[in-house]
Amino acid sequence: MNSAAGVPVDSSLGAAVAASNEETAGSTRRSFLAGGVALGVGAGLAPLGRVTSAFADSSIASSTLSTGDAAILRFLAAAEIIEADLWQQYNELGGIQDSEVPGGSGSAPYTHALRKLDLDMPQYIHDNTEDEITHAAFINAYLKSRGAEPVSLDRFRNLPSSKASGAQQIGRLTNLMELTVDTTWWTRYRSRSANPDLGGSFAPAVKGLAEGKFPAIPPSDKDLHPKDHIQAIANTAGFHFGTIEQGGTSLYPQLAQRVSDPEVLRILLSIGPTEAMHLQTWHDKVGNAPAVTDPTNGLMFPNLNEPPFGGEDFQTNLIMPEPTVFLKKSFPTVSIIRPTHTKGAAMGAVKALTDDGLFLGHSQEFFIALKELASAADAAVEEG
Ligand SMILES: [Fe+2]
Ligand SMILES: [Fe+2]
Repeated sequence: MNSAAGVPVDSSLGAAVAASNEETAGSTRRSFLAGGVALGVGAGLAPLGRVTSAFADSSIASSTLSTGDAAILRFLAAAEIIEADLWQQYNELGGIQDSEVPGGSGSAPYTHALRKLDLDMPQYIHDNTEDEITHAAFINAYLKSRGAEPVSLDRFRNLPSSKASGAQQIGRLTNLMELTVDTTWWTRYRSRSANPDLGGSFAPAVKGLAEGKFPAIPPSDKDLHPKDHIQAIANTAGFHFGTIEQGGTSLYPQLAQRVSDPEVLRILLSIGPTEAMHLQTWHDKVGNAPAVTDPTNGLMFPNLNEPPFGGEDFQTNLIMPEPTVFLKKSFPTVSIIRPTHTKGAAMGAVKALTDDGLFLGHSQEFFIALKELASAADAAVEEG
């Protein structure tokens, strides 16, 4: 039924995802799903397409997913596998390596620089990483439970790891060492008069991050000094955390508007807001990024509270969404996630990640596979 996506997939989860899942909530989730599926079958056949609310409230649906719902979940599984891969790299060097998020052994100078943003940064990086691993594993397990093919990107895990001490030497899906970070989300969430869904455009918080290629993890031990260089790398990571998580914060409501099965909608409405929790955390932390200039490449992080910055567009303690225009400019302004337009949302996410340099080094085959998953998701329409 997944021929709609047109992408050959492996049936296994990513190695890191599977390994972590085994060691953490795997058994709990497996028994939950097994119990739920058994209950669904026992309760009788679910209607095709939409399931009734009563059914959705009391058990796990057992009918086959519609083509559109499967395509949306498959794209989200791919997005979560990509998120898990990048967060795993951050955790190996700057997070907490433990049985919940194994791999790597940490980089003390990088972690020290990250902790300038908040003393709890390693914990937050760890928890964000674990969240993404569980998002990917859950969506894939759910796809399987509804007779759809799960997504694996394992064949594309070919990008190099950081050579810095503390990183695992394994193939990666994402490149965190040549990022062009879009920080316009910072000013977008502070605007009271513009919304990307109504044609608004926004200035970057850190202009320099949009004008070159910068590492967000130390590429090697040579990058652990001088002090302002490793601080600039940690600051880049701090802004990239927000860039990634604001993407997820928009993606779930964008795609939720086109699912047809209430249980699939429930999944999107239950995972999506956790992305907003991540965004809110990173939005707050990166406001503490020290104003530094990287002596190796000139990348400048300004003090956003001082002229020519400051005010509502930049002030670092304004971390909740300012109310803005929504749907029609004649309506009163409202505090909302932005953007939430649904047309072309999956392809838009792929473009944003690609433009950030996250996939630098991948073969054409990778981009073709990802775009096929995205275009299948964007072709999904609610089937009532
Ligand atoms: Fe996620
Ligand atoms: Fe996320």
